[in-house]
Amino acid sequence: MPKRVRTAVFPVAGLGTRFLPATKAMPKEMLTVVDRPLIQYAVDEAREAGIEHFVFITGRNKGVIEDHFDKQFELEHTLASRGKSEALDELQRELPQAGQASFTRQQEPLGLGHAVWCARELVGNQPFALLLPDMVFQAKPGVMKQMMDAYENTGGNIIGVEEVNPADTASYGIVARGEGPDKGFAITGMVEKPKPADAPSNLFISGRYILQPEIFTILSQQTRGTGGEIQLTDAMQVLIKQQSFTGVKYDGRVFDCGSKIGFLTANVVFALDRPDLADDFRREVKAAIGSF
Ligand code: G1P
Repeated sequence: MPKRVRTAVFPVAGLGTRFLPATKAMPKEMLTVVDRPLIQYAVDEAREAGIEHFVFITGRNKGVIEDHFDKQFELEHTLASRGKSEALDELQRELPQAGQASFTRQQEPLGLGHAVWCARELVGNQPFALLLPDMVFQAKPGVMKQMMDAYENTGGNIIGVEEVNPADTASYGIVARGEGPDKGFAITGMVEKPKPADAPSNLFISGRYILQPEIFTILSQQTRGTGGEIQLTDAMQVLIKQQSFTGVKYDGRVFDCGSKIGFLTANVVFALDRPDLADDFRREVKAAIGSF
């Protein structure tokens, strides 16, 4: 049996420049898809996968995220006194238990690899899940749960992948596919943001990982890659020479909420999926589209 994964890391230090001015004073991870902030989707997904320790890599201007995962006594009191027990239960259910959330800061924006490295003391010498909260999934069970199921069979490192539009490879990490089924194939290599002509496959890394702690040793070397940043993909490409990497082409689809189109589409799709909103929203959207 591989060692159980109890800890998840959420890098939330990014500046969110693509969503200015919305993100001038508010973290991009608090942007909402329908009525839940992006970070809440990632935390819920991790919890569903059995995670018990939630590690947030934050930065300046991100205090609201810590508040979001804290008790809000005034709000709870008001909901209770107004008899809104359903909303109250939901708020309480979504909170990590006392002591289950940890926060540390990435002091400089040196790249995703550097952000992950900042978690090394909080994670320690154990495997961990990594969830990039910009990426929101429509998937049942959740993508991290599907990856955890694969991990129980294979151990090692796991990367969630999905097919990418071939024109978009330069926006993502792309893996090279070796032997094995969709739900657990060998990854033989990976490249960060290749041009379409250099991409080793059409499978992109969609922001969900299970990693072994040896990645921290490699990240300690602070080697710069694409865009002058310390890239997680480069560190994984080093680790792959020592440990197995398994790809999981999960059931479901991702919305890249770091891009405006992905974010807007997620809002439409998730609203159409909500029993309390779907009928009215469909009617309004149809009418609105008809007028263009
Ligand atoms: C990061 C990773 C990339 C991955 C992407 C998913 O890139 O480096 O491999 O495909 O997240 O969102 P970033 O979006 O930080 O440029």
